[in-house]
Amino acid sequence: MKLTINSNVWNYREGTLYCEDVSLDLIARKVGTPVYVYSYRHLVDRLREVQAAWRGRRHLVCFSLKSNSCRAVARALIDQGAGIDVVSGGELYRALRAGASPATIVFAGVGKTEPEIADALRAGILFFTVESIPELYLINQVAGGMGKIAPVALRVTPDVDPKTHKYITTGKAENKFGLDPEASMSFYRRCRELLWISPVGIHMHIGSQILRTGPYREGVEKLIGLVRKLKREGISLKYLDIGGGMGISYRDEEPPSARDYADALAPLLKGLRITLILEPGRFLTGNAGVMLVRVIRVKKKAKRNFIIVDGAMNDLIRPALYQAYHQIVPVRCREAKKLRADVVGPICETGDLLGSSRPLPEPEAGDFLAVMSAGAYGYVMSSNYNSRPRSAEVMVRGEKYRVVRRRETYQDLVRGERLPDFILSGQ
Ligand code: LLP
Repeated sequence: MKLTINSNVWNYREGTLYCEDVSLDLIARKVGTPVYVYSYRHLVDRLREVQAAWRGRRHLVCFSLKSNSCRAVARALIDQGAGIDVVSGGELYRALRAGASPATIVFAGVGKTEPEIADALRAGILFFTVESIPELYLINQVAGGMGKIAPVALRVTPDVDPKTHKYITTGKAENKFGLDPEASMSFYRRCRELLWISPVGIHMHIGSQILRTGPYREGVEKLIGLVRKLKREGISLKYLDIGGGMGISYRDEEPPSARDYADALAPLLKGLRITLILEPGRFLTGNAGVMLVRVIRVKKKAKRNFIIVDGAMNDLIRPALYQAYHQIVPVRCREAKKLRADVVGPICETGDLLGSSRPLPEPEAGDFLAVMSAGAYGYVMSSNYNSRPRSAEVMVRGEKYRVVRRRETYQDLVRGERLPDFILSGQ
């Protein structure tokens, strides 16, 4: 079996798939399935790749926690110097619990609420990415009430097309995020008038799973134009945040490397005394993880064959939601004739599909399959739909593996529920 993704931590050894030096067959048997498995090595190598590409320029890589908010994953990256990009009070809490220094946390999102803003101010984050004028006023008000200055960066939608799935395109004029470049001068002028606001940066995030450097170049050019204009008005920004979105290989894509991005963007930044912030999520975590599932049974119908597995759309929703492709491979290769089949879960929906029409050596019940490239937007987007307990998460480092989140139980499913008195009493 040939792996199409671009990562050397996943390998077959004598017909069994390994993560670093641990057999995935062993993990599936010991921990059960479905289970997410993450490679420590991959996470750290990818982060170092980005850091190395920008060596020589002041920069901070803020890992986008939404792609994988597992504490062990975040901690591994924080220990190597990563900051964190958060999008909610919950992520802020997680980032702090994972050990992130508040001064390395950036907070984006169109719907920040008062308590979230207060929490972030209390913690002392690096800056808020502000996405509208009303939000700016709210931050000013909350900060004033606390007697704290709120550092902010405006999120600009530079109106570039990253040519990715429409659900994950975020930098176009018609998207809900940020403000138009034309509105940015007046935004920063207002910042100057507001007592509790300090404008420190400018931000863009143009989309996700982007496979070219061009859209970044276009976006950064626009942002730099604004930075220079603001400077002439006496507003000097310290941070230029180019967001995340760097794509990875799921199938046969050839994404730019961290160095390619640096080569494309560094010339634009020449002469600018500004700290660059990057917010990669998938680039660090996507190919750091797989989801292991067990074959429940194989079912053959006149028009289609199905491999029914114990992982489903509640565990990994990307194929159902975005028609995303994830390579699916056997954990242990077996000599068997190829079967073309849909790999499906047990959920009562036709869309419960992990892979469509895949040629696989015909498996037997009990065999394990690995759904590759599942480290980003995998577990974090999972749900309890069909009352399925969420899977476990495991991290591998060298020859060691550890369960970093236990599998949910049936009790977890009903935790927090209660029957109201008017049902219990019958009236
Ligand atoms: N920064 C901001 C402000 C973001 O909104 C995002 C992702 C990132 C950074 C990280 O993007 P990344 O480097 O991971 O592409 N659920 C979708 C992806 C949604 C991305 C949302 N924002 C998926 O499964 O493809």
